[in-house]
Amino acid sequence: MSGNEHVLDVRDLSVSFRTARGKVRALRHVDINVPRNKIVGIVGESGCGKSTLINTVLRLLAPNAVIEDGSEVIFQGDDVLKMSNSQLTDLRGQRISMVFQDPMTALNPVISIGTQMTDILYRQKIPMAQKRKRAADMLAQVGIPDAVRRLDDHPHQFSGGMRQRICIAMALMMNPSLLIADEPTTALDVTLEAQIIHLMKELREEFECSMLFVSHNLGLIAELCDEVIVMYAGEVVEQGEVHDLFHRAQHPYTRMLLECDPARIEETRQELPTISGSVPDLIDLPKGCIFSPRCPHRYEPCNESPPDHYAVSDQHSARCFLVRDGR
Ligand SMILES: Nc1ncnc2c1ncn2[C@@H]1O[C@H](COP(=O)(O)OP(=O)(O)OP(=O)(O)O)[C@@H](O)[C@H]1O
Ligand code: SF4
Ligand SMILES: [Mg+2]
Repeated sequence: MSGNEHVLDVRDLSVSFRTARGKVRALRHVDINVPRNKIVGIVGESGCGKSTLINTVLRLLAPNAVIEDGSEVIFQGDDVLKMSNSQLTDLRGQRISMVFQDPMTALNPVISIGTQMTDILYRQKIPMAQKRKRAADMLAQVGIPDAVRRLDDHPHQFSGGMRQRICIAMALMMNPSLLIADEPTTALDVTLEAQIIHLMKELREEFECSMLFVSHNLGLIAELCDEVIVMYAGEVVEQGEVHDLFHRAQHPYTRMLLECDPARIEETRQELPTISGSVPDLIDLPKGCIFSPRCPHRYEPCNESPPDHYAVSDQHSARCFLVRDGR
């Protein structure tokens, strides 16, 4: 697939954090892309670098972060890492939208929903009545009943599920080219979670928007996404088309995540199970494969040098010597 069919191309991205103990190597040589009109899911245990990746795309990293030389984050042809402050403001406000885990952090509690939504359109020279109509239409589209009247309500007058719907409506107001959702359903109960996922699937048909969807929940990823990226300790360890990856997982880490629960793909409520051992210290990384200290299939080459990404099929690759050696 050529570069311009991708909305986002992250190339050889390495990000570290300076700390008193040393350099935390949070992302190492990450290559991912989001094709136009596709939903890409990122899955991995806590601390694997999901938020660091998203924060790099939006250039919202903590002050102690260092983006290593050679990294590129190409969004619609422009390198986000080279953007000026005004370009970044445009990027975050209009070209990329975010939906967060907790809708209350994204909404201002003392301002009405209607004002918050029309504020997003501040650059557009159209009459306020028209902006309010657009906001109400968008609320109706995400399933808020009686939308026109509810524009004057404040966030606390809506339930949690409704608030997340409002955040999705707000994220779509600018017609973004990319929507990033970081654990958007974690704060909701199972029924509301299923409703939000259903809504996101519907909206995806309606709005021609690509999505990067971060979740611990394998079932949700299987249900919503076209492609999946599995991250482990700051590296992409496996990536591929969703069915191929779930049915023919190659990396022992991915397989362990899946094997922990046989009902995995059909079941929508599926937290990442715990795998024995812990994630390696990102200041002092193992010499060979990053997963080797926890891997039951470890063999001679694994402790010597890190494996490369080896192709499983056209769209599917895994970072494991087993794939290279056909074992
Ligand atoms: N500002 C910082 N300074 C030092 N280390 C940091 C900083 N921010 C993140 N890290 C470390 O970088 C690694 C990746 O963290 P990140 O928040 O990206 O993980 P995550 O996959 O989003 O985890 P979670 O699922 O818990 O949200 C972790 O080891 C974390 O402790
Ligand atoms: S490269 Fe070796 S240690 Fe790493 S996941 Fe594959 S088999 Fe396990
Ligand atoms: Mg995170």
